[in-house]
Amino acid sequence: MIALGCDHGGFPLMAEVIKYLEEQNIPFKNFGTFSDESVDYPKFGKLVAHAVADGTCEKGILICGTGIGISIAANKVKGIRAALCGDVFSAKATREHNNANILAMGARVTGPGLALEIVKAFLETPFSNDERHIRRINQIED
Ligand code: RB5
Repeated sequence: MIALGCDHGGFPLMAEVIKYLEEQNIPFKNFGTFSDESVDYPKFGKLVAHAVADGTCEKGILICGTGIGISIAANKVKGIRAALCGDVFSAKATREHNNANILAMGARVTGPGLALEIVKAFLETPFSNDERHIRRINQIED
């Protein structure tokens, strides 16, 4: 189950992500926002972060205008590794190296075509399980 969250800035791109997940039959839980009316991004970043941290959802996708504010908010929750990605290489690498559990994107930065390639890479790339990466991730939590 993928947890989804966005603010008004991320809302149009989130609609594209939802369409993609539905086409791929990937289950998701949408925590909103549900319109382009102005809202505060920390609320949605934290809702998704808590759903991932408590195991309700396996991974999350967060979108705001830049992807910055909403990823900063999510990363305040213990156990969350939210990675702001604007390219496919980073999405793949953050899964392999950081075992990132939330993908953040900026709807005003990244177009829908690239964004869906990023989502695909993020969801399909497994963690490497390499000892050095596990050690470094553990050091983040210290
Ligand atoms: C909203 O205008 C905008 O500040 C927000 O979407 C995001 O970019 C914040 O980091």
